[in-house]
Amino acid sequence: MRIDIITVVPDLLKSPFEASIMQRSIAKGLVEVHFHNLRDYSANAYKQVDDYQFGGGAGMVMMIEPIDKCISELKEERDYDEIIYLTPDGETLNQGIANQISLQKNIILLCGHYKGVDQRVRDQFITREISIGDYVLSGGELGALILCDAVIRLIPGVLGNETSALTDSFQDDMLAPPVYTRPAEYKGWKVPEILTSGNTPKIETWREEQAYKHTLKRRPDLLKD
Ligand code: ADE
Repeated sequence: MRIDIITVVPDLLKSPFEASIMQRSIAKGLVEVHFHNLRDYSANAYKQVDDYQFGGGAGMVMMIEPIDKCISELKEERDYDEIIYLTPDGETLNQGIANQISLQKNIILLCGHYKGVDQRVRDQFITREISIGDYVLSGGELGALILCDAVIRLIPGVLGNETSALTDSFQDDMLAPPVYTRPAEYKGWKVPEILTSGNTPKIETWREEQAYKHTLKRRPDLLKD
């Protein structure tokens, strides 16, 4: 998968791709990430990318021209499956959306700032708008990183053990069951006996029951279907 990220603060984005799973996905050649500084596409001597809103009102708006130039340049090179705008009024990111995006080959992520982008950018270029939750961030960059992390770990071959993403919370509209590791007893606190029994079918049943109970208690909304 190739991910092109358009931003006014590329420095905010780089380090998460230099560690852990995201770094490994790049090292394995499964993911390519390219950062595009929107200021490089500004026609203005001051590298301005925002301006006052028409009609008045507080807050600046990101201009269409630099965004158009950047997206058009990228689209000349290859076809994109999605051009995603990170915005608090987008559809809220969930595991289903992450699964869908993980199947795509080329995507662009546009990070908004200030009051957002000129509506014509959304009308003309954007194919999907995603929010990472009902709160307002200073920009779309942290949202883009969260989306990348959620998506990249689902790409086949990125995680060492292929099944580990499949058993994540939310994959079956269920939260994950509790997990334990050695020692089997610590300060008198014991691991549930079933897990050390070696009885795989029973362990599976126990995990399903635990996942169900946990979901019922914490997120009954997930069970409504
Ligand atoms: N930009 C600002 N707030 C955001 C949010 N909640 N999700 C995605 N992008 C954003």
